[in-house]
Amino acid sequence: MVKVLVGKTSELGEGKMTHLTAGGKEVLVANVGGTYHAISNICTHAGAELHEGELKGNELKCPWHGSRWDVTTGKLIWFPQKLKELGKYKVTVENETIYLEI
Ligand code: FES
Repeated sequence: MVKVLVGKTSELGEGKMTHLTAGGKEVLVANVGGTYHAISNICTHAGAELHEGELKGNELKCPWHGSRWDVTTGKLIWFPQKLKELGKYKVTVENETIYLEI
């Protein structure tokens, strides 16, 4: 497992998202109610980059065809067809700095 710097907590306020590439994976990190969550940034439907979508609470809407995902679990909330879950990764905070463990 590798620990990767995401950024300062002050740079990722509530309801905000960022993205990075780590360990060969595209990862989205979101702040939901003061807790940081990391999931795959690539929609399993057709490959959209989810950080370009819309985040409301824990619900992230894909920018291409509107699938809705739970950013806290990587699970699909809504889409007309069944889609594979998004990968979920561990996030830690130390000294106001966010790290991704991947
Ligand atoms: S690429 Fe995300 S719903 Fe189609």
